[in-house]
Order: sequence, then structure tokens, then C-alpha cells
Amino acid sequence: MKNDMIVKKCAKCGAMVLTFKDCSCKECGIKCCFEEMKILEPNSVEASFEKHLPSYKVVGDKIIAEVGHVMEEEHYIEWIVYVSDNKQDIRYFDAGMNAVAEFDYEKGGKLYSYCNKHGLWMKEVE
Ligand SMILES: [Fe+2]
Repeated sequence: MKNDMIVKKCAKCGAMVLTFKDCSCKECGIKCCFEEMKILEPNSVEASFEKHLPSYKVVGDKIIAEVGHVMEEEHYIEWIVYVSDNKQDIRYFDAGMNAVAEFDYEKGGKLYSYCNKHGLWMKEVE
């Protein structure tokens, strides 16, 4: 995959950035609150009662992704991203919405979801 997703987060304030091209220098990196932002490594194995991994179905030339997670004010899925060759497509959610998103399907790729309490999750698409 030419264009996988790298998300960085500030350990102090929680700011997040989607990284298009990271610095290759060992001396610096993207900084926030005067500290280097850390790469968020996605979880790929569901370890708790709650659902965080996106499920999906392919319908024609579309892929419909869903995360069966609570969508409460304090705890919800903030976004789902579909990464496929040369593309990143993102859908944002608010509390009260359903975490369901439709994308143009390309064979393969990865679906990422982000829970505001439990972080980043990734599922490979066949
Ligand atoms: Fe969660």
C-alpha cells in the first residue's frame, strides 16, 4: 500500500495529526506542547467487551464500514478511515450518530477507527 496512514498524538494535550510525510531525521519530529508527538499504533485484536474494530461488507462498488460501539457524549467513535492504494477517505462522527460509513471499494486496504477513550483500531480489508 503506497499511502498507509500515520496518526500522531500529543501525550500532553491530546492533539492529533494525520501525517502525510514524516520527517526522516532522528533529531526531530512533529512537535506539540514542546514535545515530539508519538505515533499511535493501532490495535487489531478486540480484547474487551466493547467493539472497536470496524466490520464491513462490500456491496457492488461500495464498502460499508461499521463500528458497533456506544456513541455517547463522553465515549464514542470519532472517525473511520478507509485507506486503499493512493487514497485515504475519512468520515467523522458525533455522539448520537451511528458509526457507519460508506466508501468507494477497492480490493484490499485497511479500515481504521478511533475511539475517544480507547484509541486507534485497524482491520485489514480483503
Ligand atoms: Fe471505546
